[in-house]
Amino acid sequence: MRIALRPSNPWEWAAATLNLAPVVAAEAWGGMALSGVLVAAVRLGITDHLAGGPSTAAAVAAALHLDPPACRMILDCLHGTGHVHCRRGRYRLSRRSRRWLAPDSPFSVARFVAATDDYWPWWAGLAEVARTGQSFDHHGQAPDAPYWRRYLTGLSELARLAAPEVIARLRLPAGARTVLDIGGGHGWFAVQLCRRHAELAATVLDLPGAALVGRDLVAATGLADRVGYLAGDARVADLGGPYDQVLCFNLVHHLGADQVPALMRRAYEALAPGGRIAVLDAFTTGDPRTGGTRRPGAEAFLGLFVYLSSGATTHSVAQLHGWLREAGFDRPRQTRIRRIPGQTLHQAEKPAAEAG
Ligand SMILES: C[S@@+](CC[C@H](N)C(=O)[O-])C[C@H]1O[C@@H](n2cnc3c(N)ncnc32)[C@H](O)[C@@H]1O
Repeated sequence: MRIALRPSNPWEWAAATLNLAPVVAAEAWGGMALSGVLVAAVRLGITDHLAGGPSTAAAVAAALHLDPPACRMILDCLHGTGHVHCRRGRYRLSRRSRRWLAPDSPFSVARFVAATDDYWPWWAGLAEVARTGQSFDHHGQAPDAPYWRRYLTGLSELARLAAPEVIARLRLPAGARTVLDIGGGHGWFAVQLCRRHAELAATVLDLPGAALVGRDLVAATGLADRVGYLAGDARVADLGGPYDQVLCFNLVHHLGADQVPALMRRAYEALAPGGRIAVLDAFTTGDPRTGGTRRPGAEAFLGLFVYLSSGATTHSVAQLHGWLREAGFDRPRQTRIRRIPGQTLHQAEKPAAEAG
């Protein structure tokens, strides 16, 4: 998937194709405007309000105690981007956007959208990070910082979308009973896995701030008796075990290329013979050691975003498979996850009988 501004008529398309329009100006200005309007509309409750039914701008502003001109202009921008329709002065959420933003939609990612508000200072600091190499450290926040709840409830919405496909593609060892979910945060994958396999119990290992929020989210699903938490840093914590299955979803991009191999080795040691590991993440398109040639898509932005926010970055599939093999795992295999573009699932097995 690519991130881009789209021309909206044949003239704009021709101008963009012939390089006659200053697309760079539109990207610089429009990228911020698109994000700013949408995130504000969700955070202010405008999209929630419209999900309840059509409304005039004045009525939305009055109900939400907003500045009427600003509220109307936000609604007009949302109309322009197709998130709302407007008829005789009454705005309503478009069917396409209702699916992703309405509070009662099972596909809602509204809390994820709202949580992206935390990212403004990081993007604003990009030039400084590029000069100094001093990234932000969003995982370094105090365990009781409100950030953790926004971060993890937002991510749990994406997990909710991906989980049915990811879990259907997981190949657990026969008779599996125990799962360790490293960096499992909100716990949604562990909960869904336990729901699907009645005999399973899961342990989620995550940083203390994430574990605090995750425990609450899991308790709300009613599965706290089968999904427990270990608060700790995956780079150094005792992983416990032996487990039948290890999950490591969207964590390795937060770890350096000097840290992932050791984690893979420790995961291997924490598994029972015949146990399996599943790593889900976005990976770069080319192996940096051999030089990738394909034009990068959104994963390049994710890699930079992760560098900006935590100092680590995305890795290549070749790197991951090399680290898994070095740790002792057999034949890593890749599966594409269609629900979340750019993500792939990698599974490998610890041999039932170790050689030697
Ligand atoms: C992008 S989220 C992924 C959450 C979940 N696994 C998923 O796929 O939706 C990354 C998770 O890794 C956790 N994390 C980051 N660094 C960690 C570390 N050093 N040790 C343990 N957990 C870590 C974060 O707190 C967060 O919950």
